[in-house]
Amino acid sequence: MKMKLSTLFTVAGLALASTQIHAESLVDGSADAGKARALTCTACHGAEGNSVSPMWPNIAGQNAPYILAQLQAFKDGSRTDPLMSSQSMMLSEEDMANLAVYFESLPAAAQSVADEALIDRGEALYRGGNKQEEAAACLACHGPTGRGNPAAKYPALKGQHAAYTSKQLTAYASGARTTDGKTRIMRDIAANLDKDDIAALSSYVQGLQ
Ligand code: HEC
Ligand code: HEC
Repeated sequence: MKMKLSTLFTVAGLALASTQIHAESLVDGSADAGKARALTCTACHGAEGNSVSPMWPNIAGQNAPYILAQLQAFKDGSRTDPLMSSQSMMLSEEDMANLAVYFESLPAAAQSVADEALIDRGEALYRGGNKQEEAAACLACHGPTGRGNPAAKYPALKGQHAAYTSKQLTAYASGARTTDGKTRIMRDIAANLDKDDIAALSSYVQGLQ
């Protein structure tokens, strides 16, 4: 078989790039095996991990330790969702690690803020916290640009759909989502946010790049 030289370079370049990503991931998995297993996921999370429905989270570029922890939580029932829970049941530990590494390797989509009028309030809360209610500043854990922290399993928030983020903050606040475990980090923080805070923060993080 003859291949054009330029094609060959592209293929070699891609192989190199994906090898580097594997080496960097904190989860021991194969992006190639994850890609092969990801077909069913694309129906909701999009062909490249960026979903079209604002209620379905983007998972492209999310850190692998966090993705893995959430897939395990859906499977063991500590996090539930009518659409996602059944999906996780079919996954082995190996599948989950491979999928985590694969989705981490994909580029996150850049989006704009959901609502311009909310930027100031969202930014003040995200960067400075809520002094009266003693809610911690989000950037302390999720980073100034919302990239998260893979080693600590703090999820990236940047570019996430505002509707999804708002649903999660509301779920932490009500205690419906308990995946923050014994530390109750997010439940305690979200309990101190009111509806307008949640709307502003969700809009603000959607615009982070
Ligand atoms: C039928 C639609 C659907 C399919 C198919 C699906 N998901 Fe999901 N997934 C969802 C929804 C909806 C949520 C958000 C649940 C919630 O609101 O808590 C979600 C959440 C997640 C999360 C948590 C994201 C976060 O930021 O916390 C991960 C990781 C995930 N899905 C991975 C996968 C993988 C991997 C597959 C394929 C094996 C898959 N999903 C297939 C609908 C789907
Ligand atoms: C002390 C560290 C810390 C601080 C401060 C913090 N978070 Fe979190 N956040 C976490 C951790 C850890 C998780 C993952 C918990 C889990 O697994 O459910 C998380 C999860 C989330 C999620 C769920 C993401 C997803 O993809 O489902 C959202 C949304 C979120 N945080 C928003 C915020 C906002 C907004 C603030 C500021 C008001 C904030 N966080 C402050 C540590 C923190």
